[in-house]
Amino acid sequence: VNDLSRRSVLRGGVVVAVGGVAGFVFARNSGAAKPKSPTAAANGYGPAAGTGRSLTTLGAVPDGGGVVLRDADVVVTRSGSTVHAFSATCTHEGCQVGSVANGLISCPCHGSQFDATTGAVARGPATRPLPEVAVTVQGQSVVQT
Ligand code: FES
Repeated sequence: VNDLSRRSVLRGGVVVAVGGVAGFVFARNSGAAKPKSPTAAANGYGPAAGTGRSLTTLGAVPDGGGVVLRDADVVVTRSGSTVHAFSATCTHEGCQVGSVANGLISCPCHGSQFDATTGAVARGPATRPLPEVAVTVQGQSVVQT
């Protein structure tokens, strides 16, 4: 009888512990499901497609060069009124590319370079191009489409 009641107590303890964990996980998930603020949701990091967000202004992108938008992780390049944009994450080992000059996007980590118009690898060690980010120019804004 003693043994049985001890087991019952033990089992009861386990049930309580599991219930506690489940409640904790649920509380965490329900918190994470809510956007922290409208600003955080609108900003969204990374080059996700179809956001329609304004990345920068045409005037902020040097003609014949480009600009690395660090928070958005996008590199925008420009030749006259033609603008291109790519993921700023180097396809070699994931560093963020550092600069645009002489038609090339350069990664500071191991020296990879990418064509500023196509994103193609111009110099290794990277072997894959920078993924293109679709953009259009609307007025003075460079907008991700
Ligand atoms: S991470 Fe860019 S060259 Fe290595």
